Amino acid sequence: MLRLLHSPASPYARKVRMAAMERQVPLHLELVRVDPVDRNGELAKTNPLAKVPVLHTPDGSLYDSRVICRFIDRRGEGPSLYGSETADIWEILVLESLADGLMDAAVSLRYELANRPPELRWPAWVEAQRTRIDAALEHLTGRIAQLAAPHMGTIAVAAALEYLDFRHPEQEWRTAHPTLSEWVSRFAQEKIMQMTAYPST
Ligand code: BEZ
Repeated sequence: MLRLLHSPASPYARKVRMAAMERQVPLHLELVRVDPVDRNGELAKTNPLAKVPVLHTPDGSLYDSRVICRFIDRRGEGPSLYGSETADIWEILVLESLADGLMDAAVSLRYELANRPPELRWPAWVEAQRTRIDAALEHLTGRIAQLAAPHMGTIAVAAALEYLDFRHPEQEWRTAHPTLSEWVSRFAQEKIMQMTAYPST
């Protein structure tokens, strides 16, 4: 059995759960507590970075989400998530990287705004993350045709965009990027999105 150590708020873990559902690879989900400064000893036993997600397989443990998604893809039946009619392998990998970078900026921003003591906040750094997010969204709009079919890039981008809705509604990214907003609203009807939705808080 494959055991996924995850947090329901993690966009990286959501990406893995979506890929596993799409490839019909069953995962046993194990919830773990995640805190940016309080290292989780259980995660650290197999991942020195003590981050989610970690996949325990009969042959050992895997991290990070990109590695786990490649593993899951190999396990699935039928067409790979790294091939598509709308994007070639390099386009898919770049889309996944871009989505992961979007998640990195959005998660850092979340920790800055929700966890860092207000007197230690650095407004220029916050602004730099918001600019990075905005530039990634602009770039993704230019690649919208590549997102027309489900593949690893589509899944990663969708998980990243809904994380922005979840943690940064104040950024109102949908107003500034309507094409991408319409795209993710349509993709949100898919079962893999609905079955892995972020928690309400
Ligand atoms: C969050 O609460 O936003 C979060 C949790 C785990 C990983 C990344 C983000």
